[in-house]
Amino acid sequence: MKALILNCSPVKNGATAEICNIAVSVLKEKYTVDTACIDDYSFSYCKGCRVCHNTAKCVQRDDVEYLMRKLAENDILVLVSPSYWGDVPGQFKAFIDRCTPWCNTHEPYAELPRGKKGYCITLRTGSGIAESERVASSIEHFYGHLNIEAAGKLCLTNIEYRMNVEAKRSEIIRFCGQI
Ligand SMILES: Cc1cc2nc3c(=O)[nH]c(=O)nc-3n(C[C@H](O)[C@H](O)[C@H](O)COP(=O)(O)O)c2cc1C
Repeated sequence: MKALILNCSPVKNGATAEICNIAVSVLKEKYTVDTACIDDYSFSYCKGCRVCHNTAKCVQRDDVEYLMRKLAENDILVLVSPSYWGDVPGQFKAFIDRCTPWCNTHEPYAELPRGKKGYCITLRTGSGIAESERVASSIEHFYGHLNIEAAGKLCLTNIEYRMNVEAKRSEIIRFCGQI
């Protein structure tokens, strides 16, 4: 089985990336692991034209296709996202919007292979868990419309920089061990 760990932060070597590294070290014991960072890809915003509602295809051609191929190829998806202003970072939200051709609310849509399980790990600097849970809800909403089973979440707080992840290492390892 194959697992994709996606860093949904635009920062390639920050706290989110460090959590991804821990997830890789655990998951590689069980799965063939693939990784990506949202910042590796270049794509435009959704134009809201709704052409995809009738064609299941976007009118734009860019890296969204490559990233979707990764989602399609992997059985397990682990999306790791920080809170930026109380929700997912803009780069990741722009990707979600561009996934409308794959969204199950219209016919036809470009279906991903069925049977995938989606997990999320969210983090924020503040101490309240509710905001971290809100970020997880955004990701689980995304999973739902792609027919991906939302199979588990870990919502973290009090993390600003890479070094703050150390205090959460055992919690992250425990969560990833259940994937
Ligand atoms: C633009 C921006 C907005 C942020 N907004 C919030 C926020 O609303 N609440 C919060 O608790 N942390 C917020 N943070 C802090 C990040 O969630 C935190 O630093 C996280 O560890 C960043 O991970 P990264 O460096 O991998 O992106 C924000 C950080 C940035 C850069």
